[in-house]
Amino acid sequence: MSLINSFQWMVRKGLWNGIATRKYRATVPKDVTTIAPMRAQVALIPLNEAYPAIPISGIRVAEQVPKDETQTSEESMMRLLAKACTFFSPMQAGRPEIAASPHQALDEAYSHRHRQTVLQQAAAVRLDSQRILRPPTMPVELQGVPDLGMLALRGPYAGYLRKVHGSSDGFEWDLEELGSYSHHSNLYAPWAHVLFKADPAHTSLRPIRVRCELGSIHPDDANWPLATRIAMCAATTHTALVRHWTWTHLIGGEYFSAATRNHLPPDHPLCRLLWPHMVGTHASNRLATLGQLMPDGDFEAIYSLTYSGLCQLIGKAGQDFNLRACDPEEDARHRGLLDSDLPMQTFANCRRIFRVIQAHAERYLRLYYTDEELRTDQSIRNWLAELERLLPNGLGLISTTLTCATLARVVARLIYLVSVQHEQLGTQLWNYQLWAHTHPVRVYRDGRRMPEDVYQRLVNSNYILNVVRVPLLQDYAPLALVESGRPDRHPRAEAAFARFRLDLARLQRKMERKPWAPWTLYPADLEANINA
Ligand SMILES: [Fe+2]
Repeated sequence: MSLINSFQWMVRKGLWNGIATRKYRATVPKDVTTIAPMRAQVALIPLNEAYPAIPISGIRVAEQVPKDETQTSEESMMRLLAKACTFFSPMQAGRPEIAASPHQALDEAYSHRHRQTVLQQAAAVRLDSQRILRPPTMPVELQGVPDLGMLALRGPYAGYLRKVHGSSDGFEWDLEELGSYSHHSNLYAPWAHVLFKADPAHTSLRPIRVRCELGSIHPDDANWPLATRIAMCAATTHTALVRHWTWTHLIGGEYFSAATRNHLPPDHPLCRLLWPHMVGTHASNRLATLGQLMPDGDFEAIYSLTYSGLCQLIGKAGQDFNLRACDPEEDARHRGLLDSDLPMQTFANCRRIFRVIQAHAERYLRLYYTDEELRTDQSIRNWLAELERLLPNGLGLISTTLTCATLARVVARLIYLVSVQHEQLGTQLWNYQLWAHTHPVRVYRDGRRMPEDVYQRLVNSNYILNVVRVPLLQDYAPLALVESGRPDRHPRAEAAFARFRLDLARLQRKMERKPWAPWTLYPADLEANINA
């Protein structure tokens, strides 16, 4: 390694780390309780018309960012950085592997400057000490050969488990579809199918076979550790590119916001309930698209797929979005897990939070509507029809009769999407992806560890995902509607918002009675929306 090469890397790393920490510092929680007058309609156009450099047409995005969300200087900066990636890229071919010790590798990439910036930002925005970004914690299931059985029950990959049809104790992860997209030839293809068997009492899961590019590999095969790493790579590739980015941001977030802006006037009670959970989405998605999805962006640099493979995956996977995945009980039933008796810790965690959100939505709606009144509200009918039309697989409701309870379920799914699901599939990866020795985002065929430029980009990308956003647990009272004809209702709406906050805080206190764990989703960590 020549001196010039090392010097170039030092400059490159210093510059791009500086850009990452600046982005972290520049992002402050936005006001989400002031509703803008929503006059301009949000028109949706194919993604490749909004961004000609990105060949994805099956997903639609806002043609223009609404005026109240516009971040002109930030967007100019992101366009400049997207260009900079091509002439002074954060990547430098030929860099050595990261250190064999995962903690040393992390310390070399997650610098003192990154950590100081977190503390400075926390002080600047007077962040609750519970919400400060902690240095990554290695989950016990990644300390050694990845414990796929545990990872299937708790943490960001718990949503992949499903029961094998016709079996009483067989379960699976099916990530074979990822094999359909082109990947870099020096990496193993990021696809896998994992077969699990439950013990007789259904207290744990044991992986008994991984099918991947290596063939059908069993726990006593010499290739088992490698096969489990390929399975982890497949799971995290799908989580980051499909579940987090495509489903939560591009499909769920973008369409939720467009339908709400286009069909619910600012003084509509439902708009008041939803506003904090969608405002800022179009602007934020635009900034993130420029940083991650453009050629030479984070996604292409970090994951195993080629740029065309990446774009094909996102374009195709968008059609598999299903809002039902944001309803823990319905989702578990669909995957054959509801009566499985398995210790599904993440499912129990998610269901508790979902129930708080759902109860809040129903209490609030019943302040304004009886079931009959709801059915005659044309704005709500238009909003629902638009979501049914836009979302692949629709709203996924079992009952088609509109009541406060069914509407509350839809609302809860949308709030859950941007708070709980976004935390689980995006920010929570902080405690998983940075342990590249057992949880690799790419697996090299020649057995080498990740090169330091790819790892540095992975660290900075995850760091930016963890910027400080608006907390879910906050005061929404300014959104309570003031109605001249119904002065009694305003304090009751304020009380409904206060009750939501109280219920989340109560759940937080209950959960704090147990030791903190990296896979747990805490109400105090959740954010009101997906935006930065
Ligand atoms: Fe995100």
